[in-house]
Amino acid sequence: MKSFIEKNKQRFLDELFDFLRIPSVSADPKFDGDMQAAAAWIQNKLLDAGMDLAEICPTEGHPIVFSEKIIDKNLPTILVYGHYDVQPADPYELWDSPPFEPVIKKSKVHPDGAIFARGACDDKGQIYMHVKAIEGMLENNSLTCNVKVMFEGEEEVGSENLETFIKANKEKLAADIILISDTSIIANDIPSVETGLRGLSYMEVEVTGPNRDLHSGVYGGAVANPANVLAKMIASLHDEDGKIMVEGFYDKVVELTVEERDALEKAPFDEEEYKSDLNIDDVAGEKGYTTRERAAIRPTLDVNGIWSGYTGEGSKTVLPSKANAKISMRLVPDQDWIEISELFDKHFKAIAPSTVKVTVSRHHGGQPYVTPTDSIGYQAAFNAMQEAFGKTPVPTRGGGSIPIVALFEEVLGLKSILFGFGLDSDALHSPNENYGVFNFFKGIETIPLFYKHFAELSK
Ligand code: BES
Ligand code: MN
Ligand code: MN
Repeated sequence: MKSFIEKNKQRFLDELFDFLRIPSVSADPKFDGDMQAAAAWIQNKLLDAGMDLAEICPTEGHPIVFSEKIIDKNLPTILVYGHYDVQPADPYELWDSPPFEPVIKKSKVHPDGAIFARGACDDKGQIYMHVKAIEGMLENNSLTCNVKVMFEGEEEVGSENLETFIKANKEKLAADIILISDTSIIANDIPSVETGLRGLSYMEVEVTGPNRDLHSGVYGGAVANPANVLAKMIASLHDEDGKIMVEGFYDKVVELTVEERDALEKAPFDEEEYKSDLNIDDVAGEKGYTTRERAAIRPTLDVNGIWSGYTGEGSKTVLPSKANAKISMRLVPDQDWIEISELFDKHFKAIAPSTVKVTVSRHHGGQPYVTPTDSIGYQAAFNAMQEAFGKTPVPTRGGGSIPIVALFEEVLGLKSILFGFGLDSDALHSPNENYGVFNFFKGIETIPLFYKHFAELSK
């Protein structure tokens, strides 16, 4: 595999650059044509790689690309999942180079260079590693498993149509394991395998006071200001210790054992570096937990956006009629996102003063997921990382969410292996998203080792 990579390095980068130039932003209908183009682009690359078939499966939203190579019915089958959609690139002015014009630049954590573009790490760069790894295995005649590929275009907007697709296509998607590269390793010299993802419940609230915006001098002091009220309501959602005050919120949270917590704390972590990278003087969070625990094994509640009243240039004396916020909660086993959404709804309405009306609505969500570490899938991932990096990988728990993963288990009965090669500091969803050139090629090198170990362990 190494010589195959060496020989083709420049071509792989050129191809990935072409892919990254397509602005496949799923959230904004303005880019619908680019979504189709990105799906067709990756479909063609799968065919070029030597897959038996690669098809575009239309959905009510953005298409799903499905592909397969069946070499022997008696061999195990790996289902590769990933997403070709990306987050919006806004705000464009904060990018040092345009988000859809990829460039390689050196950085502190990526001294060999990193590819700067929206989707470089999340997830186009990572799904492209799979296409190139498959191409290499087919060229060297070293494919040890059957392979199916499913790349969707709606991960960043909740995967609703993928849910419908997997429910309708259980037979087509039959496999032994799901392999996903859409998460992180600890550092380029510290390989790790993530063993869990948090769930998500995403809500929106609206607080309405008077029937119109009012002169804040004429009415101020006598009528409740929805912006003041919303701020106070939001502030009451955490107590002094950083605990979430939504009634019943922690009822189903599974506490980790001391042994499990100790094992996770063994993973190297430099809090000073963490703070200096973010330019903050101190970290914050739930009392009794470390920074990494707060961002992985504990549930959270955060405002993602908040707006009300006058926010334009200069000043306007106004008492706004409405105030709004988007609030998300990250969930851990065994919290249920529907149940948590309902608890939030009930709590938020219960704490509203009689001076305002409150509406609560639900966006998308997903269940938390934990990969069993005593499975051959996890063992294969562990062995592959060990072999490629020459170091024992560290098990970690990730803080992000991939909502469809829990449904893969529920609908298809399949476990997922989180086999990502990004770094948490790669600025996913932020300006200047990037993906290490090292990480891209290391992924292409490591993926075939997963196939090898998975086939061996399946015997
Ligand atoms: N790839 C990320 C999730 C991720 C990132 C997991 C890093 C672990 C480490 C994924 O594309 C993502 O951004 N998911 C969203 C979910 C959502 C939009 C429904 C998230 O976590 O916010
Ligand atoms: Mn992703
Ligand atoms: Mn993402």
